[in-house]
Amino acid sequence: MKDNVIKLKRPELRRYLVPINTASTQQLFADCLVIGTGVAGLRAAIEAAGSGCEVIIVCKKNLQDSNTWNAQGGIASVLGRNDSFASHIEDTLKTGCGICDRQTVEQVVKDGPGLVKELLDWGTEFDKSQDGSISITLEGGHSFARVAHALGDSTGKAIVQALIHKVKNTANITVVENFYAIDIITNDDGVCIGTIGQNARGVMEIIWGKTTILATGGAGRVYRETTNPDVATADGLAMAARAGAVLRDMEFMQFHPTTLYIAGASRALITETLRGEGAILRDVNGDAFMAGYHKDAELAPRDIVSRAILAQMLKTNSTHVFLDIRHFDKVFFSKRFPLISELVASFDIDVSKDLIPVRPSAHYMVGGVKTDRLAHTNIKNLFACGEVASTCLHGANRLGSNSLLEGLVFGRIAGREAFKQSGKPNSDMGLRKFRYDIPQSDRSRLDTADVLNSLRSLMWRNVGIIRFAKPLAETQEIISFWQRYVLDKIFDSDQGWECQNMLTVCLMMAKAAETRTESRGTHFRDDFPQTDDAKFKAHIEFE
Ligand code: FUM
Repeated sequence: MKDNVIKLKRPELRRYLVPINTASTQQLFADCLVIGTGVAGLRAAIEAAGSGCEVIIVCKKNLQDSNTWNAQGGIASVLGRNDSFASHIEDTLKTGCGICDRQTVEQVVKDGPGLVKELLDWGTEFDKSQDGSISITLEGGHSFARVAHALGDSTGKAIVQALIHKVKNTANITVVENFYAIDIITNDDGVCIGTIGQNARGVMEIIWGKTTILATGGAGRVYRETTNPDVATADGLAMAARAGAVLRDMEFMQFHPTTLYIAGASRALITETLRGEGAILRDVNGDAFMAGYHKDAELAPRDIVSRAILAQMLKTNSTHVFLDIRHFDKVFFSKRFPLISELVASFDIDVSKDLIPVRPSAHYMVGGVKTDRLAHTNIKNLFACGEVASTCLHGANRLGSNSLLEGLVFGRIAGREAFKQSGKPNSDMGLRKFRYDIPQSDRSRLDTADVLNSLRSLMWRNVGIIRFAKPLAETQEIISFWQRYVLDKIFDSDQGWECQNMLTVCLMMAKAAETRTESRGTHFRDDFPQTDDAKFKAHIEFE
């Protein structure tokens, strides 16, 4: 370990997933290319364009398809009278279990109120208290109510709508939907010069960027159980790794304690703010169990609540536990949580009489592409922000609702830095003739749908909430086997590329989890339940 870093070797990867021939590929040009349209990407685009860049922002599907859009609880910021920056900073550091970067935490927390105010000015419909101030609530790990919410439990949607409105009214931003960014392109010196992807017409297209901002979001879909939308398939992490970016803290996947559990239905987040407003966790026997696990009961940190729920499921031989909000006022509930209200009603759950079945699932990739405090990656002209980035704000565990805030803060920084860089003459942009060939594979072809299903189950079983050495090692063997038959192929559609990306990233997640023989934050090793600061108060990096 050097400088609190444990270095692992990045797996050998083919440089690009698809053959490239610039002579026969459509091309677009931007000063600043942004990949991803969650809060971080949109905020970055606005900043870069506002500074004077010609910006192209692309997303894999539609503007609504992001983790941000689905965010329910809210955005954490110091807005209450008794709250303080010092308290928000301490809560973030404590939840991060010793490996946050204090300076980053301080910057993000202190920028919070101004950026929330900016969102308000740009039209985000934050819910208000009777005195007209922004209404705030509690979440686990927060010492004060500081989670601002909008449209009840549709905070992400309200924020994205305001940001999109701003983007669409900014002349020098072009939005390209249904563009699957397959790879970041680098020149012979390893400088990022854009991306190759497939556009909405199914045609390969290169977008050259003097600068590129990666804001592709997370990787929840690598797990069978997840709150994440279909698009969260680790694409940005994998393409950054292929381009030579350093990936950090990949063992830290945050599991959300309460996902609606109805066999056969797709999993849906049941926001933690419901517990912030007084919801109680009960096991199948009707017993409230959280006080037996932590002094803060329902509002303990997420990793503790998730493990407590698993333990209680095991004890009671059940597939789930329940959230009890029978004591809530019906009108309050439907006004404050309209989305969940509609969701549970669609399954004929009457919350005044019935309990809501829930269990934990994968929610947020804490690790990601390593950046410095100015969103620079180790690849020149490539920046990263939002969930895909590892800024060291979260350390080993993310404090609830800190991610929308991080997206705003680092989106703004990335946009600003990209503008500064785009203004400089870039001789690398002269590289417009370029060819990359891939030989045809003669190995058998696996059924990618089948591999994906098996991979998600494997990750859930072996790289999930509770981990052990042997299954982590086995996971790597199994993934390496699949990789031999999948990574050597050339695909021409999303499912194949997603499968390649997920296999690439999952191997690193399993390797990092095997390497960290201790428990810290979201990473819990049943065979090493203690935190080992002497060895592991450190980051694991693939380079
Ligand atoms: O429970 C929630 O609403 C999730 C919030 C978050 O992940 O920050």
